Amino acid sequence: MTVYNLGSINIDHVYRVPHLPAPGETLSAQAYAQGLGGKGANQSVAAARAGARAVHIGAIGPNSDWVLDQLRAYGVDLSGVSLLSEPTGHAIINVDPGAENAIVIYPGANRAVTPAMVQAALDGAGPGDTLLIQNETSAQTEAAAIAAARGLCVIYSAAPFDIAAVRAVLPHTGLMVMNEIEAEQTRAALGALPQMDCLITKGAQGAEWISAGTEPLFVPAFRVDPVDTTGAGDTFIGTLAAALDLGLDRVSAMRRAAAASALQVTRPGAAQAIASAAEVDAFMAG
Ligand code: RIB
Repeated sequence: MTVYNLGSINIDHVYRVPHLPAPGETLSAQAYAQGLGGKGANQSVAAARAGARAVHIGAIGPNSDWVLDQLRAYGVDLSGVSLLSEPTGHAIINVDPGAENAIVIYPGANRAVTPAMVQAALDGAGPGDTLLIQNETSAQTEAAAIAAARGLCVIYSAAPFDIAAVRAVLPHTGLMVMNEIEAEQTRAALGALPQMDCLITKGAQGAEWISAGTEPLFVPAFRVDPVDTTGAGDTFIGTLAAALDLGLDRVSAMRRAAAASALQVTRPGAAQAIASAAEVDAFMAG
């Protein structure tokens, strides 16, 4: 089947800094790199590298051919990506020596995606397919509604957290994925986690899948020495969606996603750090 992904495509500007800047502070970076990123693009790359048919739905601006070339090279189907006059989205990412980051995004073309673009991209989609969405594009609510009406499983990653977006998308969502902070924000806003499948990623503490009426499923994290945690959550979600799409049960899919994101944080960058299925196999075997 197919994993569709309405998601952001960003050019990441990554600065290695001695510590994350404090308010009012000017810092000199120790290193700079540019790479492919965006929560959506990272998830699509992860899904494609994990072996799924991954169709990206999104938008970029002019002069960004290398971005599309990289996505294509990773095996992502770009039939749902529109070329617009708005600039390609970008992210300013500071990474400290402990591999922690702080990110500012400029949405650009990501926020110019229209419901009509999504409708066209999902034209051939149906039951058995999956739609991933996050909060870095426009048209999420419409996309979720179209996909749910067509019988797709909608997996919603509530990042960056926005309670208005959460409320709008939830009625059409099959699985909501959050990190611990987003889960806390959701509990604070809604009084509790929504009564639906929720997957909470907890970094080095593993991940938990909560379903109403059953015992939570827990998978521990693999222990690694991280150099850059940018995109780890995206890698988890894209790999998980691919694994479920390819028929793995929930625990096996979470385990594979945990392995892929553990490997990803041992490498610098976002999309470029995502391992192939063969590398994940070898890592899990080891
Ligand atoms: O989740 C990491 C991603 O967030 C980065 O690649 C950056 O582009 C932002 O979208």
